[in-house]
Amino acid sequence: RAAHARDAVDRLCARVPDFPSPGIMFRDLTPVFSDAQAFRAVVDALADAFAGQFDAVAGVEARGFLLAAAVGYATGTGVVTVRKAGKLPRAVYRESYDLEYGQASLEIHQADLPAGTRVLLLDDVLATGGTLAAAGALLEQAGAVVVGCGVVLELADLTGRAALAGRRVHALETV
Ligand code: PRP
Repeated sequence: RAAHARDAVDRLCARVPDFPSPGIMFRDLTPVFSDAQAFRAVVDALADAFAGQFDAVAGVEARGFLLAAAVGYATGTGVVTVRKAGKLPRAVYRESYDLEYGQASLEIHQADLPAGTRVLLLDDVLATGGTLAAAGALLEQAGAVVVGCGVVLELADLTGRAALAGRRVHALETV
């Protein structure tokens, strides 16, 4: 299933130059999500990579939500939303981080998970790693155990793994 997922990403991921700003080559995975077989393949491959190791799945806004919801449903685990600042209504933890382009903050509800919950953290793309580093720090502030990070696509030039040192990182495809 891992090979099927990689093939689907290679075939369907769109390269969009100069988005969202000049000089950025944006990797758009929405064609992977909108293709029924490709979507199932990437969801199954992410679940397989961490099978039996997690009690909940966290997804990073926005495209990480799609993956986390599907993996959570497929594996019978709950889903946690790691959101952009200002969206969550109750008490939150917040982390600011640098993006490949710009700066942002992520938040998580302080009280959504029992302490010690084993969480798989998912997003679509690993670029600089700032997003997943911040999300992992948030989950740990909330008392969760981050068992690993799963992404559909890793952009190796941006060395995101270095920002995630000490974490298990699984990418379905690396470019
Ligand atoms: C993109 C992508 C990851 C993040 C990766 O999200 O979906 O979440 O950037 O970049 P990094 O590894 O350099 O931190 P984006 O910030 O564009 O938000 P969106 O999903 O809401 O469009």
